[in-house]
Amino acid sequence: MDFNFTPDQLDLQKMVKDFVAKEITPHALEMDKEGVVPADLWRKLDEAGLLNLTVPEEYDGPGLEALSIALIYEELGKGCAGVATTTAANALASYPVVLLGSEEQKRKMFDVINDGKLAAFALTEPGAGSDAGAVATTAVKDGDDYILNGTKCFITNGGIAEIYVIFANTRKTAGIRGLTAFIVDRGTPGFSVGKEEEKMGIRASNTCELVLENVRIPATNRIGREGEGFKIAMKTLDAARPFVGAVSVGLAQAAFELAVKYSKERVQFDKPIASFQLVQAMLADMAMQIEAARLLVYKACWLKDQGVSYTKESAIAKCFAADTAMKVTTDAVQVLGGYGYSKEYPAEKYMRDAKIMQIYEGTNQIQRLVIANNILY
Ligand code: CAA
Repeated sequence: MDFNFTPDQLDLQKMVKDFVAKEITPHALEMDKEGVVPADLWRKLDEAGLLNLTVPEEYDGPGLEALSIALIYEELGKGCAGVATTTAANALASYPVVLLGSEEQKRKMFDVINDGKLAAFALTEPGAGSDAGAVATTAVKDGDDYILNGTKCFITNGGIAEIYVIFANTRKTAGIRGLTAFIVDRGTPGFSVGKEEEKMGIRASNTCELVLENVRIPATNRIGREGEGFKIAMKTLDAARPFVGAVSVGLAQAAFELAVKYSKERVQFDKPIASFQLVQAMLADMAMQIEAARLLVYKACWLKDQGVSYTKESAIAKCFAADTAMKVTTDAVQVLGGYGYSKEYPAEKYMRDAKIMQIYEGTNQIQRLVIANNILY
């Protein structure tokens, strides 16, 4: 086993670390307060090449392997999980096209993303969350077109994306076997953005409802065959879940570093609180959990890069890292005490941001089901 990164990966990691320290961390509390990523930061993220990470080299992208992408999301997660989520949603939305897109679809999707614009992956609906196969949005064939009707909810980048991958049912009674993936452009008549969610955490990221009312799109926008949508969605989530793990690791690391620094500075009973063994035990547990989560994330990405099956490891990485982020950020608030609970310090933001890691891209209950299914069957 080789735990060393390549010189290219180390350069990339350093570049993103410096970018985050300069452009993201100093503005994270403000972005959290305002609930938006400023346009200027988008431009800089684009210029730094951080919006099109999954685009293959032959389509003018960086052609990065999963492990390198994970290193990038880890750094972004340290700076602001909301910004990291927004960029990671581009990766999520691009995977159905990476997996099964036609040449024309690849050009279309990758041109948009290469141009610094955002994409969104729209699977979830009011009645189809964990039960992804229960999608009620319909797609009815009409000549050379499809007509889509339905509502999507909790869609990351929903209100600000230029291009969407929308899952709809082409055979209403077929359940998961009717699910089909389509590309829909922003501005298509009948396609509109509904309410924006007012969220507890990752507030810099945009989360919206999408409404489709007789949205007519050409059949050439269908990704893969009719009924292939469920498997496309599952494979996409396999690929993207380790990146939720990577953001979680970065978030936990940031909270841990804050707790370590504070514990050395904060004096009680005439000593820095870091000298008390109960505090040390908390810091040691944080360090252990982060290290384990990081290795699980790297392992899942490494398996993907080897081209072998990694569904179970992807779910393990996401689940363990998200639980770690929740535990570590909660303990960081505890180490900071009253200051941890105050908005003066970023600890409470870290804790609010961590909660979604256990919920989106499949709840941690669903990850445990996926893991159990892969163990048992
Ligand atoms: N790869 C390939 N195929 C897969 C697969 C995978 N990882 N997982 C399942 N399948 C296939 C199965 O082999 C099976 O195929 P056959 O019938 O041909 O044998 C078929 O799909 C159905 O599989 P299951 O019986 O396991 O399906 P299920 O209905 O029991 O559901 C589930 C499985 C794991 C619960 C799934 O519904 C799931 O992952 N739910 C969570 C949904 C989710 O993650 N949503 C997140 C939305 S995106 C988001 O949050 C983004 C954001 O905003 C940031």
